Amino acid sequence: MLYDTNDHDDHTDRYSEYEDRFDPLMTDRQARRKRKPKAKHAPKKAEAALREEVAELSGLEGGFRTTYKPTLFEESWLPASLGQFYDQTLITDVLARVRGGKEANVYRCAAHPLTGQMLLAAKVYRPRMFRQIRDDSLYRDGRAVLDGAGKEVRARDWRLRKALENRSDLGVQAAQTSWLMYEYSALMTLHKAGARVPQPFAISPNALLISYVGDETLAAPSLSDVSLDASEARYLRDVALGNIELMLQHDMIHGDLSPYNILYWEGEITLIDFPQVVALRGNQQAAALLRRDVTRVCAYFTAQGAPCDAEREFARLWQRYLPFTAKEIEAEMSRYDVEEDEDR
Ligand SMILES: Nc1ncnc2c1ncn2[C@@H]1O[C@H](COP(=O)(O)OP(=O)(O)O)[C@@H](O)[C@H]1O
Ligand SMILES: [Mg+2]
Repeated sequence: MLYDTNDHDDHTDRYSEYEDRFDPLMTDRQARRKRKPKAKHAPKKAEAALREEVAELSGLEGGFRTTYKPTLFEESWLPASLGQFYDQTLITDVLARVRGGKEANVYRCAAHPLTGQMLLAAKVYRPRMFRQIRDDSLYRDGRAVLDGAGKEVRARDWRLRKALENRSDLGVQAAQTSWLMYEYSALMTLHKAGARVPQPFAISPNALLISYVGDETLAAPSLSDVSLDASEARYLRDVALGNIELMLQHDMIHGDLSPYNILYWEGEITLIDFPQVVALRGNQQAAALLRRDVTRVCAYFTAQGAPCDAEREFARLWQRYLPFTAKEIEAEMSRYDVEEDEDR
């Protein structure tokens, strides 16, 4: 069976399944063959308004014309998803689909010169991703739902709460916005902190625009597709562990770190894919998630000739960044009747 029987009516999911199974990488090549002239100038206002009107009427052709030719599955939402970045003069063209990931498709875009970049990556969350996604309760623990401005959805907002619980269309949209906001703000914080992560440029209701790793014909492969020699492996192991530690210093655990979510390009790595980022404190699963991240990363580097003892690394990090659970600290505090300890 190729697709979920609950989704008879949804052809798009079928195409998505089909594409993921049979053709996740071929689109780069297809796009190159079918290259059309680039749209070089921002359209006149009236033209843009007209296009928007037409888009509303047809519900299909949302935006600008792109070199990359959307597939049948994509054409109902891709132009609208990336049109905002075009209108904001952040991108001038969509060149190719880099990869269809688990939850999102990533596209190589020509950057507008004002961004100071040649290329940018647009990560577009596929519609209905939350019906395909695995159980996300592991990550939600202790995590507020964020709205489009990055603010917490208030507990009193019962309509939205209910929608989220029922996973109605409104709820799905709100949950998606929340995940996007987490990814975006994690990237903001980490990029500022000097972590090896893409620089975030913009966010829209279902897409992120981030710096692109790779060149105009090839996107950076994941570590999982790369073999390293031992000395490079040792260097990159230390960079990877250093970045996990930097995240902890900013109260974050990646939560889905593995060689699949680390890109390799010209001797350096970039950690990607942060929507499930977990707060170090407040999530019951924090220790388990950190241990899993460290274990997967260590397994890869050990296999590449750079030994890495996952248990020791995990214990070191955990003791350093969260020596006690919140309950233990509370118990300790009351035992000594500490009056003021503002650092804790
Ligand atoms: N900034 C980027 N530059 C180049 N390729 C990227 C970038 N971000 C993601 N990719 C590619 O897209 C794939 C999917 O992105 P990812 O953020 O991991 O989403 P998913 O949740 O779908 O796995 C990645 O495995 C990688 O191949
Ligand atoms: Mg991924």
